[in-house]
Amino acid sequence: MERAHVDASPRLEPSGEGKKYLTITFGCQANEFDTEVLAGMLESMGYRAAASQDEADLVVINTCAVRRKPEEKVAGLLGRLRAFKEKKQDLVIAVGGCMVQRPAVAAELARRFPFVNLIFGTQALPRFMQLLELAQKSRRPLIDTAGNGGSREGLPVRRSSRFHAWLPVIYGCNNFCSYCIVPHVRGRERSRPFEEIIREAHALAADGYLEITLLGQNVNSYGHDLAEGHDFADLLAELDQVEGLARIRFLTSHPKDLSPRLVEVMHRGKKICEHLHLPAQAGSNRILELMNRRYTREKYLELVATLKKEIPGIAVTTDLMVGFPGETEEDFQETLDLLDEARFDQAFTFIYSPRPGTRAAAMNEELPAPVKRERLQRLVRRQNEISLKINRALVGQAMELLVEGPSKNNPEMLSGRTRTNKLVHFAAQEDLTGRLVEVEITEAYTWYLIGKRV
Ligand code: SAH
Ligand code: SF4
Ligand code: F3S
Repeated sequence: MERAHVDASPRLEPSGEGKKYLTITFGCQANEFDTEVLAGMLESMGYRAAASQDEADLVVINTCAVRRKPEEKVAGLLGRLRAFKEKKQDLVIAVGGCMVQRPAVAAELARRFPFVNLIFGTQALPRFMQLLELAQKSRRPLIDTAGNGGSREGLPVRRSSRFHAWLPVIYGCNNFCSYCIVPHVRGRERSRPFEEIIREAHALAADGYLEITLLGQNVNSYGHDLAEGHDFADLLAELDQVEGLARIRFLTSHPKDLSPRLVEVMHRGKKICEHLHLPAQAGSNRILELMNRRYTREKYLELVATLKKEIPGIAVTTDLMVGFPGETEEDFQETLDLLDEARFDQAFTFIYSPRPGTRAAAMNEELPAPVKRERLQRLVRRQNEISLKINRALVGQAMELLVEGPSKNNPEMLSGRTRTNKLVHFAAQEDLTGRLVEVEITEAYTWYLIGKRV
């Protein structure tokens, strides 16, 4: 952890000395990383991680706004924290992230939960330490939803893993898919300096990290806002040379920007994993157009075919949505057919939920909830059959795993991920967490595989 930046600020006393913090994170990997930055800042102020909620002097909630459900969970959580705060008067509660980047939502939250000390949007992250100090002296919730982000470079990070690291390459999003709140709460695209990313990757490798995941809402648009002229393919090619790293992953790729050069770099790269997460969202051209995705079903399938041809053994995963405004049964059938044609290893499936302020939310053709639920079930069922078939074909193969730790359901087994990002459980006598091992796949299920060490 780097402390220099904090020590350089004379106003920041280590006011967290002797205090414990708890973080609760909703949403995507970008948010997981932001929580690691928040934890880094807190530790540089002297705070230490709490082992349980009861022990916490400070609770930091990092919120997500992408669908209705994670927002409702935050409200539920704050409802429960009300009782805890009544018992523990000097408890400090801070709510940050995507949900509260919107001034109206932040104000409403402050009204409903006046015992919250600090409400800070995504852009306020670099100011978090100062805000926290101020909030503790304020009797009402302190709110910062200003849009002027300021640089995030050099903030301390407390990573939650010793072998896998998130490495953001581009913040924000310019795409404005019509259903999506992310561009509204994460701001415009800002690529991080090329040299800074490379330097950080070397530092992570020197610290023993074996795997990095490059993060961006759309990593494929990396670099277009930089003077240097480097694009994402250049970045990946350069990172592939970093000694000590074993695996490089990246999330998320927008189909409209996936360049032939990127496929070429993935093909040649030694460390770049044979896995691509390529959200399709829908299989109907009419819906894709309404979603403002800027590719067609045909273009998408062509991309998947190219990837499978050029990168043998690649796993392709996707995101799909059902119940977009006005989605007909025919439109939905085209999404089902897309599953058969693309043959995804895995699909993350969502029921569309309107996000206030987005274009789709004004479309006024919301489908009844039972229709959406029924479509989701059919979609999940079809995809599960495909995932199982693909996984069964792996039985008998030898695969490399990066071991993540004891299996969640069976403490006698360890769990790891293949380069294709499949979860594998295997029996082991010793703790191999954080190590690369070879296993042979012996059993296959829809969501995971079983292997034995070779
Ligand atoms: N940047 C990524 C996705 C970020 S959000 C991309 O472009 O693919 C993750 C997923 O949430 C999306 O892929 C989409 O499937 C889903 N999602 C986004 N907005 C949604 C909404 N309003 N309702 C339901 N699902 C949504
Ligand atoms: Fe949302 Fe589209 Fe941007 Fe992804 S690319 S974050 S779905 S607007
Ligand atoms: Fe991620 Fe949710 Fe924000 S998906 S970018 S945490 S709205």
